[in-house]
Amino acid sequence: MKKIGFIAEKGGAGKTTQTYNFGAYLAKQGKKVLLIDLDHQLSLSREVFGIREDDYSSHNLFHDQPVKVYQVKENMDLIPASLLLEGLEKEMALSDIPMPALVLNYWFDDHGSEIDAEQYDYILFDTHPDFGIINRNVVVAADAVISPLEPNIFGWAAKARIQARVDGLLNHLINPSTRKPFIDSPLYFINNKVEHNTRESQDLMERTKDDEQVIATIPNKQLFKATIRENKPIVALQEDPKIFNANRQFFQKLNSAYASMKQKIDELK
Ligand SMILES: Nc1ncnc2c1ncn2[C@@H]1O[C@H](COP(=O)(O)OP(=O)(O)OP(=O)(O)O)[C@@H](O)[C@H]1O
Ligand SMILES: [Mg+2]
Repeated sequence: MKKIGFIAEKGGAGKTTQTYNFGAYLAKQGKKVLLIDLDHQLSLSREVFGIREDDYSSHNLFHDQPVKVYQVKENMDLIPASLLLEGLEKEMALSDIPMPALVLNYWFDDHGSEIDAEQYDYILFDTHPDFGIINRNVVVAADAVISPLEPNIFGWAAKARIQARVDGLLNHLINPSTRKPFIDSPLYFINNKVEHNTRESQDLMERTKDDEQVIATIPNKQLFKATIRENKPIVALQEDPKIFNANRQFFQKLNSAYASMKQKIDELK
């Protein structure tokens, strides 16, 4: 089982869209996928799946309490978010928990068997755009973090910033006996919304072409909007011969992008 966090500080980079569509790609291959929505905007829970959960939401992952798992598609389950997550940042800042970034990790140790976490091949976290305490927990609990980059000046600046934040966090979590960081989950990037004919996209591709942390390039495509609006992932849309034939090249590029992401994740120890 691999846990992957989708994180970006800037809103709208594509976390929800790619968590959902990549999750569906994995599920389509017969892999068992659990999506965990940690964003109080409820994009994945409410907008995609129409689910509202007040008592057993992902908020409970930070309170040593049980959660409810919904089956949302074949091979795909969801732990929905709650509006309560919005207050969690403040609550945890005021609490006297000694290592607040380790709470989610402990939840999996103590409660993972209640949801049979080991049955999943992949657990994907969708998050709010920030680097607050929830997302610091995700960095610690995850086997790898994937951050979508947009082809513009903000996307480029975001890359260095999130790298510095992740490094800063992990360098603080020191094993007292070895004095070395005890977590070294890698940070990967995906180029998202890439167009073949714009200066910004060409610039992003050029800057990241030899960068081993950049593991995939995802084209800019309006179809992604429909995936969220209609709860129909790309892997389902491409089964429609009409849609497939009209967008053949896009599907090829996307499948190869998702295959690279999967390969990187599968290679993690
Ligand atoms: N590859 C893409 N091509 C075209 N549009 C895309 C692509 N990826 C995402 N989008 C669009 O960009 C917008 C933002 O995407 P999304 O909601 O996934 O971002 P997010 O990072 O989850 O945002 P937030 O930070 O608010 O949670 C949406 O309208 C989505 O349809
Ligand atoms: Mg989102």
